[in-house]
Amino acid sequence: MYPRDSSVEDGVLSIGGCDARELAREFGTPAYVVAEADLRSQARTFTEALGRLHQGPGEVVFASKAFPCTAVLRVFAEEGLGCDVASGGELHLALRAGFDPARLYLHGNAKSDAELEMALEAGVGTVVIDNEQDADRLSGGGPRLLIRVVPGVDADTHEHILTGQAGSKFGMAPDAARALAERIEVAGLHMHIGSQLRSLDPYRRAVAALAQVGDFEVYDLGGGLAVPYVAGDDVVAPEDWVDGMVAAAHAELGDDVSLVLEPGRALVANAGVTLYTVESVKPGLAGETTVAVDGGMSDNLRPMLYGAAYSAAIVSRMDDAGGMCTVVGKHCESGDVLVRDVTLPDPRPGDVLVTPVTGAYGYAMANNYNGVPRPPVIFCSGGDARVVVRRETYEDLHGRDV
Ligand code: LLP
Repeated sequence: MYPRDSSVEDGVLSIGGCDARELAREFGTPAYVVAEADLRSQARTFTEALGRLHQGPGEVVFASKAFPCTAVLRVFAEEGLGCDVASGGELHLALRAGFDPARLYLHGNAKSDAELEMALEAGVGTVVIDNEQDADRLSGGGPRLLIRVVPGVDADTHEHILTGQAGSKFGMAPDAARALAERIEVAGLHMHIGSQLRSLDPYRRAVAALAQVGDFEVYDLGGGLAVPYVAGDDVVAPEDWVDGMVAAAHAELGDDVSLVLEPGRALVANAGVTLYTVESVKPGLAGETTVAVDGGMSDNLRPMLYGAAYSAAIVSRMDDAGGMCTVVGKHCESGDVLVRDVTLPDPRPGDVLVTPVTGAYGYAMANNYNGVPRPPVIFCSGGDARVVVRRETYEDLHGRDV
């Protein structure tokens, strides 16, 4: 569950060689802590697998929505990835982080004129057409165009993050995509069938559906690979995912097509943990202990939005057995529960509590509910910790007042 570049010694957790208690003391809590080496090694896992398994042109693209922070984007730009941006804001960040504009992919089912203009001016390499309005505004030359196809496949994930099913708000039905490809010049097709997907089957069915649309040079098969959040979570390993995607593409689309893979979560989730301070402890109704921390749904919305499961531990007593607990946040809603059914060793106020696997879509969906300032992002590597995004201040909360 913890970053590869982490360890436990005498029951104390370290991330990137930094003692988690010290990190909490120095930078305060809540804090997003990222093992930088994990970002790099995970990027290489994907690029090396694609390079090994696919002889034609290929590209791994980071879906920036998973962790849209300049420092994270910069790491992936350095590692040679492309970048998926789905808004003017994500485009702005990717450019600032140093991505070659030619390696950017602009997505979106509701692109504004201003966003398209910004992309054209920046020299964005690829724009993914979602609808007829995109096609009307883009067919005059410029970026390479792909059409997002709704392959009409279901997959086993939370309905809020399923996107390839018939009737999805994203992309065009195969018939409409085929008609459009006859009318305007496109380089290829795109699909993204959903997120936190635990099996290759829906991908295989979706690639088969793409093959029915026609023959193209480029196929962007999207992201969606699941990560394990709690012990026993059964998922496909990144190498096996790339292998399955490439095999499906070779079987259905040909060996020499240009292949694009677009993972977000799987590149960042496991590199990040969140540190909290325990503020209060009280008995729950069913014999469990309710442990309240200084963050919650403002730094991790996923339990509330998707019923997502996480685990937790006390960073100074990692090896100790414990009693059943529920970890709740500080926000004024009963649904603000971060972790259910977790055992923690005698949690006490002042303890530093960690939730692992929070590198994806935590920072991205953070908010200021209850006027809680958003946490900093701390990169840890080789025993050094550096703040790459500072904590919000109370002044920031009214910084936009006019
Ligand atoms: N490509 C496109 C066009 C996407 O829309 C997405 C994610 C990805 C790639 C990357 O998918 P990933 O590999 O991260 O699954 N907020 C939700 C996840 C929403 C995903 C949206 N699109 C969550 O916290 O689970």
